[in-house]
Amino acid sequence: MKGLILSGGKGTRLYPLTYTRAKQLIPVANKPVLVRVIEAIREAGVREIGIVVGHTAPEIKDALGDGANWNVELTYIRQDSPDGLAHAVKISRDFLGDDSFVMFLGDNVIEGGISRLIRDFADNNWNSQIVLKAVGNPSAYGVAEMRPDGSIKRLIEKPDRPPSNLALVGIYMFDRHIFEAVDSIAPSARGEYEITDAIQWLIDQGYSVYPHVHKGWWIDTGKPTDMLEANSYVLEEIEPKIDASAEIDANSTVDSRVTVQAGARIVNSVLRGPTVIGKDTCIENSYIGPFTSVYHGCEIRNCEIERSIILENSRLLDIDQTLRDSLIGRNATVKRSDSKPSGIKMNLGDHGTLWV
Ligand code: TTP
Repeated sequence: MKGLILSGGKGTRLYPLTYTRAKQLIPVANKPVLVRVIEAIREAGVREIGIVVGHTAPEIKDALGDGANWNVELTYIRQDSPDGLAHAVKISRDFLGDDSFVMFLGDNVIEGGISRLIRDFADNNWNSQIVLKAVGNPSAYGVAEMRPDGSIKRLIEKPDRPPSNLALVGIYMFDRHIFEAVDSIAPSARGEYEITDAIQWLIDQGYSVYPHVHKGWWIDTGKPTDMLEANSYVLEEIEPKIDASAEIDANSTVDSRVTVQAGARIVNSVLRGPTVIGKDTCIENSYIGPFTSVYHGCEIRNCEIERSIILENSRLLDIDQTLRDSLIGRNATVKRSDSKPSGIKMNLGDHGTLWV
């Protein structure tokens, strides 16, 4: 059994953050989503993992190396243009050989891991198994229609009249027959080789495709609001820890669900969990409220922040209003200006959004 993580793509829905960085490397609870995916695959006993990468390949290779830090063996597979999930499978053939594999979208976060799914697939003789999740708005997703024996009959993209409320989650298991499928399908109307078309091809040829219905939460971190939601879920799950090298002064209050990483300094501040403060970050005269992740090397003084993600080396200084539901990129500065004439000033990146 091998693993295949899809980490190419464009990431347009997360502009401007993804102009300059791979969306899969954006941290949720101070750990990149891609690292969470690698750990989930390793926990399921799979150590040989291929990563499909696009134009952000150098940054991803730089962050993950050969995988030794996570006790896995990583092989990078270059996809020259993001031509679809089935295309990513097609170009991974040399790496995958005749092995069965689990394919995981590198921007998805799922509760509870995938060990059971991998066991199910290993215990049965199915050609493919796909993860489904009951959702409230199936028309927004790829939806599965089942047969009475529980196998999948049909997959329909964003149906007007959904045959079920079971949406496709970005995790799939395949055996080698998937290569026949990806070689047989044509690009869709949006010009991509769709994995749903490849799976439908398997079904139409009489191959067996079964579902695994996931009961916990699952988030596709495609948009900023998804990142914030995933951040909240994961913060709820992590075991809080105050690093021995972190400094918290006597005037600060840090509640029991807060993680403070190495070298962070907390001065005259209130930290309410679940929250994580990154390495060498300084928080002074501030309130950091629940569901906030402040990454490494940040400086926050005289601010109140709730349910937000602040990426590395950013500075938030003397802001009068509470900053809430916000996603702040790397090396950003948000500060009060006392110069005249007064008013809001900004150097806002392309595709950025500011609510005033
Ligand atoms: P998507 O979120 O469907 O696509 P995207 O990353 O291009 O994002 P956006 O729609 O905001 O422009 O991709 C899901 C995952 O699969 C993501 O981790 C990127 C990866 N992917 C590939 O590796 N190759 C591809 O050809 C595509 C389409 C996606």
